[in-house]
Amino acid sequence: MPARVVVGTQWGDEGKGRIIDNLAGQSQMVVRFQGGNNAGHTIVNEMGEFKFHLIPSGILYAHVTPVIGNGVVIDPRVLCEELNHVEARGISTDKLKVSGNAHLIMPYHILLDAAHETMLGRRRIGTTKRGIGPAYTDKAARLGIRVQDLLDKKILRQKLDTAIGEKNDLLEKVYNSSGVDPFEVMEQYAGYADRLSPYIADTSLIINRALGRGEQVLFEGAQGCLLDIDHGTYPFVTSSNPIAGAACVGAGVGPTAIDEVLGVCKAYTTRVGEGPFPTELSGSLSEHFVSKGGEFGTTTGRKRRCGWPDLVILDYAVRLNGLTGLAITKLDVLSGLEEIKVCTMYEYIHNGERAHYVDFPPHQSIFHHCLPVMQSLPGWKEDISGVRRLADLPKAARDYLDFITAHTGVPINMVSVGPGRDEFIEV
Ligand code: IMP
Repeated sequence: MPARVVVGTQWGDEGKGRIIDNLAGQSQMVVRFQGGNNAGHTIVNEMGEFKFHLIPSGILYAHVTPVIGNGVVIDPRVLCEELNHVEARGISTDKLKVSGNAHLIMPYHILLDAAHETMLGRRRIGTTKRGIGPAYTDKAARLGIRVQDLLDKKILRQKLDTAIGEKNDLLEKVYNSSGVDPFEVMEQYAGYADRLSPYIADTSLIINRALGRGEQVLFEGAQGCLLDIDHGTYPFVTSSNPIAGAACVGAGVGPTAIDEVLGVCKAYTTRVGEGPFPTELSGSLSEHFVSKGGEFGTTTGRKRRCGWPDLVILDYAVRLNGLTGLAITKLDVLSGLEEIKVCTMYEYIHNGERAHYVDFPPHQSIFHHCLPVMQSLPGWKEDISGVRRLADLPKAARDYLDFITAHTGVPINMVSVGPGRDEFIEV
């Protein structure tokens, strides 16, 4: 399977980093294709713990070429910091390739993200405040500054002058806050240009050549399906498309190049930020997931909202991504529960009429008021972190996995049972 896409099937934080780390060992190239440093992956290996927000975690393997594709928005300050951090730990960054067509996150994007959230008040999105939305806004408005602009200081200055005039007006006159100093930004970005220029490349060409040679290319999705700007729980979404189709656009490969799409699904559900969440729990059950699953964001440190597994959402992810396989993560976190409640459809009561949705509801106003219809499955008490074969799992755990496969019709390829690099069951 030369080209494989890995995507999140929920609201992000499914544990994609671990799965990607596992698959990267079998790949020659790992490509990020959307999002930016709103994502966060924690990798634990023999060298210790690594946290990545931008660089594909494949950089930890000497044989892997890590690629940041054109669909990513790049905060060059963060990229430089990550490069310095990785190099300080003795890992070479020489193979990294960064698309010249990727857009840059500028200081005013970060200020605008925060100012906009403050203006929205109670209706805020709960963004990571990393400037992601404003950077994609400028890309669509054709006001964006791209990585390749770093290579030409004259062009960089011209583009900055055009953009900063408008952004400072917005910040000062609309949001009543302070703007940015164009000279300071120019100086700062000229410094990033010097650091980053060796990595800038025609990544679409490089990826397609690798595919042509029959190499294994892994496309690494960030966030998750329900945060997709087109198909997610809009407006409580991110500003990119975290679904598999975006790998083509965000990396510059044709759809016929993709052979396999692996959906990563946490054994329960979590969400950070605002927005609807039908199976959300509160009280001691939610605390079980938060404490046992360590449910705090890698990027913002925010406590994640937790809930029961939701198969309506998973079916939706199967449909939108054309999933060919599933990786179920954090199955060990379910150990110790008396029962596992699985949402198999939604109930929606409107004007006294009761309707049921087995498919993801088509409109936001319906989804916001849906109640989950749950099926109860028996839980298990055993510690499963040492299990490496499906057959050695407690019967209730196997039944839970079989229930997911029967419901979605998608085979489970991998199951994670602990945070360590080897705490996996490969099916
Ligand atoms: P933004 O991507 O920073 O604009 O945030 C928009 C929404 O996406 C917010 O609800 C964030 O919490 C959520 N979000 C963005 N990136 C991630 C992620 O990597 N994991 C989980 N949620 C995310």
